[in-house]
This record gives sequence, C-alpha cells and structure tokens, in this order.
Amino acid sequence: MKKIIVANWKINPQHVDDAVRRAQVIDRGMRRMRGIEAVIAPPFPFLAALKKHTRNLILCAQDVSCRESGAYTGEVSRSMLESVGARVIIVGHSERREHNNENDDVVNKKIKAALSRKTRVILCVGEKDRQPDNFQLFVKQQILSAFRNVAKQFSKQVIIAYEPVWAIGTGKTVNPNDLYEMAIYIRRTLLDVFSKKAAHTIPVLYGGSIDSKNAKYFLGVEGVNGLLVGGASLNPHEFLKIADSAASMK
Ligand code: PGA
Repeated sequence: MKKIIVANWKINPQHVDDAVRRAQVIDRGMRRMRGIEAVIAPPFPFLAALKKHTRNLILCAQDVSCRESGAYTGEVSRSMLESVGARVIIVGHSERREHNNENDDVVNKKIKAALSRKTRVILCVGEKDRQPDNFQLFVKQQILSAFRNVAKQFSKQVIIAYEPVWAIGTGKTVNPNDLYEMAIYIRRTLLDVFSKKAAHTIPVLYGGSIDSKNAKYFLGVEGVNGLLVGGASLNPHEFLKIADSAASMK
C-alpha cells in the first residue's frame, strides 16, 4: 500500500499567492518521489488555484456540508469541492468537533454527503485523553457511528486518521507501541462495518505533532499507512522531508 502524507493547512496561509507558492515548492519536490501520495488540504478558497498551479498533489478539502444544495448560507457541498479539484475530504477533525459542535451524528451525515465515486474521505478519530478504561471504546464508537448506514461499496474510498486530541499541536506524540495497538484495534473495528478484505486495505494514518524528526518513527509502526500533518506542513521544506521519509520506507 502506498504511504499517504496529508498536509492539513487549517486556516493558513492568509493569501492565495502565498498558498500557491508553498504548494508549488511541495509540487516540485514531489516530482522525484515515487510510491507515495501527497495530499494537500488548503482552505476552501485556495483549492481552484492549487489545482491550476500544481500537478503532483492530490487536493483535499478540510470539511464539507452535509447538504447537497438548498438555502444553507455559507455551506459548501461535495459537488462544489469536486468541481474545483478536491478528490479527498476530511471529515470529523477534532477541531471541528470541538469548535463547531460537530457530534457523531453530524459526522455521519457528512461522511454520507462526502463519499462519491470520485471522492475519498479521511475520517478523523481520536480520544481526548487516555483514560485507561475507555479511550479505545471511545474511538470505536466514533468509527461505528461515522459509518452507520454507509454503503459497503465505499470502503475503497475510506481513510482513517487516528489523531489523539491531546497530541494535536501540543508537541506530545503517542508512544509507538500504543499506536501499533490502536492501529490493530481500528482495523478490528472496521471489520464490524466493512468486509474482511476491505477492513485490511483501508489506510490508517497517524496525526498529532508530526515533524520531520519524528515522522520516520511513526511511519515505521506496523499497520500505519501514512501521516496527517498540521503545523509542520506549512513549511514546504519540512513537509517534503516528511514525504521523503515516507518514500524511503517502502
Ligand atoms: P499538528 O496537527 O500536526 O499541528 O499536531 C495535526 C492535525 O490537526 O491534523
């Protein structure tokens, strides 16, 4: 399975020219790398420009509306995102769950709205804190509710990003043994949703305080198929170093 490295730019940078400049540096660097997928998730308004000015990147939206159309001011539909080049959509990022009150029900609706023949979805899951008894169950519940009544045929378009909330933007990272256990646990949970074959081929990514120094560490964990990178992805050279680690690990 190809390693997948995702850049989540969140609410950065502030100007489209700056976004294009950063994306072009990554795009040029990706020309020489084989066997990995570089996915860039800029803010919505920059997707079209990045599509125009890059060739080697897979474009990703950071969110999507649960609605296809209608009187919903400010919402952005999956078809709109597809029309400006997005081929992947992030759903259920913990920052949206926390700051935009997206509960499991909303995440489920968004997953259904986001999946199409052309579009893949990255479902973000992760516990707020590591209470010994229930944090795995919490992640299981997030996965089961996200895929409630989702057609099994979409399994090929699904990616899971395990991002413990306490590790996002904090400089704290998960212990590799714990990550290994969680990757197995996530796959076991996916068996409750998709077929056995599908559950084994769905990529599982890790996210939370990844940088070019620690990336290799997590990419080497069995069952982990890539990384979701926030802060460090805003520096194109740093992101390329992370991608390089992934390319050299096949
Ligand atoms: P971080 O963010 O790499 O800055 O911790 C990860 C994420 O929010 O996806």
